[in-house]
Amino acid sequence: MKFFIDTANLDQIREANELGILDGVTTNPSLMAKEGIKGEEAIRQHYLTICEMVDGPVSAEVLGTTFEGMVEEGKKLAAIHKNIVVKIPMTKDGIKAIKWFTDNDIQTNCTLVFSAGQAILAAKAGATYVSPFIGRIDDSSWDGVQLIEQIVNIYNSQGFMTEVLAASIRTPLHIVRCAEAGADVCTCPLPSILGLLKHPLTDLGLAQFLKDAESMK
Ligand code: E4P
Repeated sequence: MKFFIDTANLDQIREANELGILDGVTTNPSLMAKEGIKGEEAIRQHYLTICEMVDGPVSAEVLGTTFEGMVEEGKKLAAIHKNIVVKIPMTKDGIKAIKWFTDNDIQTNCTLVFSAGQAILAAKAGATYVSPFIGRIDDSSWDGVQLIEQIVNIYNSQGFMTEVLAASIRTPLHIVRCAEAGADVCTCPLPSILGLLKHPLTDLGLAQFLKDAESMK
């Protein structure tokens, strides 16, 4: 399973990248706005900086909602760097735009996916990635990971090439369960990635080893 970081914060991207396990980055308009990025040139420059930091796919989301608007904007985003993946919302116009980008060899990430039916449509349009939002599903008292399992099974049995990118990750356990469910990619906030490091027995064991190491000097 590939690890993407789900943020537009450059310090967090750098910290995750330094671990050596980072395969890519996803952003969305909320994450970009949180960093105070405003205006076309600032957006372009921010995506370029991220692409120069991380050697892997960087999802950049369109802000428009019409087919024509998304195609126009997506072409500009894709021109920023070869690793840009144009992120498109799961709407009727969005599906048409994904098909347009597929036909023009531009990678896409279909976002805001909450059902298997939506994931089938995204795959039919040729999306490179499909992003089911598992945390937001959990928030509404359904099991988001079950949707990952369902989409993985459908894609495998139907031979769809679209990669399942588990998004809206809230906890380290989400990451473990997405790996079990066969997700191709998990995009995670930094605290969830760092949470994977934690185990009290590791801390206790290390403390004992360090103590015994002292007696060996
Ligand atoms: C990433 O592609 C998604 O936009 C993101 O994971 C959504 O996360 P949230 O539900 O925590 O906002």
